[in-house]
Amino acid sequence: ASSLEVDISKVPLGGEIRVLIGGQPFFIRHRTEAEIRSAESVDVGSLRDPQTDDERLVPMQDGSLNRAILVTSGSCTHLGCVPVGPAQGNTGDYGGWYCPCHGSHYDTSGRIRKGPAPSNLPVPDYRYVSPTVINIS
Ligand code: FES
Repeated sequence: ASSLEVDISKVPLGGEIRVLIGGQPFFIRHRTEAEIRSAESVDVGSLRDPQTDDERLVPMQDGSLNRAILVTSGSCTHLGCVPVGPAQGNTGDYGGWYCPCHGSHYDTSGRIRKGPAPSNLPVPDYRYVSPTVINIS
């Protein structure tokens, strides 16, 4: 299986980088404090695919969470289009990503909030190899 090491210190605050692994797109987002607060303040029970923000983060090697960095699949869970995000100037109604194919809105945790997509942007298998480098597989 393919994997990729990503230097997360290169991801701009409030922005993201996009990578392809085995032809599949992934997003690595560097969230602002406001985006983190927004992700944490959601009533999880009201979500279509209920997950806390913490459940969508992989701990660093010391066991702590780096809440600034969110890693998700870049394939819309509806029919697989690649959503737009901060680099395209459109983060949708919930500040995360927007899928222009059929209008799915994802929040700053990559959770589906509005539109036809059935589930959250999946969190891939990844791990911290240092405080500033992750390995995604
Ligand atoms: Fe994203 Fe349909 S593929 S909304």
